[in-house]
Parts: sequence; structure tokens; C-alpha cells
Amino acid sequence: MPETPPGGLSTRSVHGGEPRDNPYHALTTPIVQTSTYRFANTADLVQYKEERMFWDVPQREEYGRYGNPTVRVAEAKLAALDEGDDAVLFASGMAAVTNTLLTFLSVGDHLVVTDDCYRRTRQFVGSFLRRWHVEATVVPAGDYGVLESAIGPQTRLIFSETPTNPFLRVLDLPRLVDIARRHQVRTLIDSTLATPINLRPLAVGVDLVIHSGTKYLGGHNDLLAGVVVGKGGLTTALHEAQGMMGDVVDPHAAYLLLRGLKTLALRIERQNANGLAVAHFLEKHPRVRRVYYPGLPSHPDHAIAREQMGGFGGVVSFELEADGPATSRFVDALRIPAIGPSFGGAESLVEQPALMSYYEIDPEVRLSLGITEELVRLAVGIEDAHDLIADLEQALEHV
Ligand SMILES: Cc1ncc(COP(=O)(O)O)c(C=O)c1O
Repeated sequence: MPETPPGGLSTRSVHGGEPRDNPYHALTTPIVQTSTYRFANTADLVQYKEERMFWDVPQREEYGRYGNPTVRVAEAKLAALDEGDDAVLFASGMAAVTNTLLTFLSVGDHLVVTDDCYRRTRQFVGSFLRRWHVEATVVPAGDYGVLESAIGPQTRLIFSETPTNPFLRVLDLPRLVDIARRHQVRTLIDSTLATPINLRPLAVGVDLVIHSGTKYLGGHNDLLAGVVVGKGGLTTALHEAQGMMGDVVDPHAAYLLLRGLKTLALRIERQNANGLAVAHFLEKHPRVRRVYYPGLPSHPDHAIAREQMGGFGGVVSFELEADGPATSRFVDALRIPAIGPSFGGAESLVEQPALMSYYEIDPEVRLSLGITEELVRLAVGIEDAHDLIADLEQALEHV
């Protein structure tokens, strides 16, 4: 295993999971761009196969779908950051979500999911898993009574995001874990919006943590990846499943992820500060009806967020005192954030969820989820806060 130095989150972002010595004395982890690995002779192969039967962690690689040295370093860094024993990297965040659900659920099982979660996750749970006779109950994020009463004899998993998206609900994780343990149900948390810098769910007893690595972890809007981090061997089943299902990440993307992760703590510090500054500015603006940001005392989960999170992140949602077209005029007038899906990179991004992720959804259903046309999701990047605020100020003139 690579040496993982103890230390703070920035030290772990830079050095966590990285071997001290690399081939060719390289300081950075090399991209091992190969699909297969050679054996010196038959005896070498047989020795590997024999040893493989007894070791969870292979001492060398055999084939790209089973492992890659660059990918393993990225996994070790992510495990170090999230205080897990092991991590499994996938080709995208959705690959991490779907592989985990398919691995830990079987026909006849039931799971509890909190609402306000990523639309594709909800779709997978609500339609795809149902075809495999796995039933789900969607409960409101933050209502622990409803959550507990949704657990039945067939319930195997509780799955939630925290913070949620776009309303940034923050879950009380120790409370969730307590409920789950009393009912002997596993907990799975998609912590993409928090990152390991702002929240480490495994440390409070959550079983598995998922991130879309495409967002803050990669941090530069230039790769797709997903990761699941766990403790005590839970990830072994995921490695096994991945060998069959094949949603592996490319070594080059794993390298880009490693490169992005080196600055994770620094970037999140800036994005936390930008998010808070922008949220305070928006809350005071007369053309803004409501701001959803857990760093604001007006947010319903502010107290939990302050207690559990190191920072409140870079996603700020808000409703304008306007109709849909006027909201689009504001979005179009912004000069710094680009209109686009996703969040977490160096560049700020903005969207009207009603016209982006929720466009295809029936307007009535959309409204029942709280997605109005005047709702804007701003994902701040690492630009200067005063430039972002000046840009918002001029764009709000167009409302
Ligand atoms: C919270 C959350 N989880 C998972 C995903 C899926 O990640 P990916 O786009 O990398 O598949 C997303 C994507 O937007 C997300 O916002």
C-alpha cells in the first residue's frame, strides 16, 4: 500500500495515497496507460493467481478492468481524504451510484431515499430498480420521523445526499446513522456537494460515501469520474462487481483527478468563501425573493450545517422576484458564470433548473418539487468574490 501521511486536509490532498518513490524517480504519479499486464512466465502467472486467492489487495495488476496503478493511487488518496479504508473509482458519479445500488440490493429489497436528490439517481431508483423488483420510498430530507417509519423488514439501505441539490438541505448524519443502526440498515451518502473537505460522513458512522468526482474532486470541469469510499471491507464487493460490470475509469482521467485533488483543500476554501459572500449579497438584494444556502441563518438546516460541516460549499440557489423570462434575462446578462450543468470546477456555472435538469419533467411535477422558473442555481468557482458580486449586481439590473 502507498504511504499515507497523517496530517491536515491540505497535506492529505497533496500527499495522501501517493507513493514516496515512483518509477523513473518521477515526483508525480505516472499515468500507466495500458489495458493489460504481462507475466514473465507461466510460473509467475500461477504464483500471482495463487496469491490472489488470499489477498484482497493484489500486489500487481493483471488486466485493466480489475485494476490500474494510477487508478489505485487516486483511490488511496480519496480514501485518505474521506477517512475510509478503501475507495473504488468509477467512470462517472452515476456509475458509482448505480453500481453501489446494484451491488448491495437484490430482488425484493427496499430502500429509503430522501427527496431533492440528483434527478438521474431518482430516476434510476424509481424506474430502473423497480424493474428488478427493488422498491423505494422517497421521504422528505430532514423529516426523521417519516424516514424511520418508511423502514420495513425488507429495507436494506438508506440513501441520501447531503447537502441536497438544488435546495441545499443538510442531513443530521449522526441521527440518520442512529436510526439506521437501530433497524440494521446500511447508510449510503452522496456527499458530492460537501466534498471530504467540508464533511466526512464515514467518521460519524455512515457505511459508504459516494462522490461524483466530476465536480469538486476533479475541480476543473475536464473529466468524468465517481468514487465510493468505505471502511471495513465493504468496498471489496464493489471491486468484485466492477470486474464484471466494467464501469472503470480511464487511467488518464484518474491522473487528471489526482492532479485536481492536490488543490482540493485550497479550492474548497475559496469556494466556501465565495459561496458565503455571494449568498449574503443575494439575500440583501431587493430583486431576490429567497436564497437557499446552508451558511445563512435563514436556511432551515443552518444549525446542523454549522455543527457538522467545515464550510458550506459553492452552490447557492435563489429565487428572483421575477417571472421565468425575466430570470432568463438575468442569467443571460451574467458575464462570468457560464450557462451549463454541473458545478464544482474552477469556473462558475449558472442554470435555471427548470430549463436544465428538470426541462423534460412535467411542469406540475416540477413545481411539486419546488422547481420554479425563477429558481437559479449558481455554482461559484474560484474567481474573486468581488468580481462575482459585481457581475451579479449588473445582471440583476436586467430583471
Ligand atoms: C449529487 C450528485 N451525485 C451524482 C451525480 C452524477 O455524477 P456524474 O455526472 O459524474 O455521473 C451528480 C451529477 O450532477 C450529482 O449532482
